Amino acid sequence: AMIALRQLLDHAAEHGYGVPAFNINNMEQIHAIMQAAAETASPVILQASAGARGYAGEAFLRHMVAAAVEEWPDIPICLHQDHGASPAVCQQAIRSGFTSVMMDGSLREDMKTPASWDYNVSVTRRVVDMAHAVGVSVEGELGCLGSLETGQAGEEDGVGAEGTLDHSQMLTDPAQAADFVAATGVDALAVAIGTSHGAYKFTRPPTGDILDIDRIAAIHRRIPDTHLVMHGSSSVPQEWLAIIREHGGEIGETYGVPVEAIVAGIRNGVRKVNIDTDLRLAMTGAMRRLLDQDRKEFDPRKVFRAATAAAREICRARFEAFGCAGQA
Ligand code: G3H
Ligand code: 13P
Ligand code: NA
Ligand code: ZN
Repeated sequence: AMIALRQLLDHAAEHGYGVPAFNINNMEQIHAIMQAAAETASPVILQASAGARGYAGEAFLRHMVAAAVEEWPDIPICLHQDHGASPAVCQQAIRSGFTSVMMDGSLREDMKTPASWDYNVSVTRRVVDMAHAVGVSVEGELGCLGSLETGQAGEEDGVGAEGTLDHSQMLTDPAQAADFVAATGVDALAVAIGTSHGAYKFTRPPTGDILDIDRIAAIHRRIPDTHLVMHGSSSVPQEWLAIIREHGGEIGETYGVPVEAIVAGIRNGVRKVNIDTDLRLAMTGAMRRLLDQDRKEFDPRKVFRAATAAAREICRARFEAFGCAGQA
């Protein structure tokens, strides 16, 4: 059944676990997430970006999620709009049956220019008014995501500030977070604590202090009833990078957020953990390997099945590590 983000994360807070929010674009990713959720009895957050709706088409996404609800009636499913660039995007998502929307007012509508406080409060407040009227939850974002190591937002052509960010822009201030929640009424807040989007987060194996976990705790103390969201939470598995390289791919040395760092975040108040890149890497690795090893194969189902299995393993591992398993 469908569930709003607020209800799902209230349960997570009460029981002290985190829920991975995986990005969906196609049937295989939905299968992978739902199969892993069923195996582990986990509630799920399926999140779709504007890019996902452009790729699959609004009707296909909506009907594929409806199919998941029908196929797995016992798994609570939250359908969330990831990084809504404007109130209009969020309104479309609500009309499509999403039970949660993110208004990302930390950036202007171009999703590249850091936005002013007033802009962020005003667009987010508008979305909260609209969404809450129909029982839909809202995630806002305060602070610009960026790697504390590289000063980069990550994603070259997607969501993320352009150019190099300074430390203060990249870290959410706890007092401002409290003011932002009071001014907007969001259910969940994405915070900047040193993660960035995409595969290129860190150039060296991350050390214990690569994320500002103390800041998560400080923010959580100020806004205990608002659920904290960690974007850019892919771990960039080195074993999948090796498989991609072994089978003709060219991805340079790079590192992600260790699962233990995410678990530390969850212990300090993180409830929603956004993951996209890890599924992309695992699916690409599995497809490259299969096509490389069986050069006569041309049935896409065999290729996509391998991709689905690889993504499912990542999902299962995250459901278990975040304490989400057994909570459905
Ligand atoms: O934050 C961005 C997500 O990874 C979605 O990426 O805009 O390429 O679908 P996308
Ligand atoms: P990753 O690129 O680390 O998977 O982050 C995804 C994300 O934050 C989607 O909103
Ligand atoms: Na989101
Ligand atoms: Zn994100």
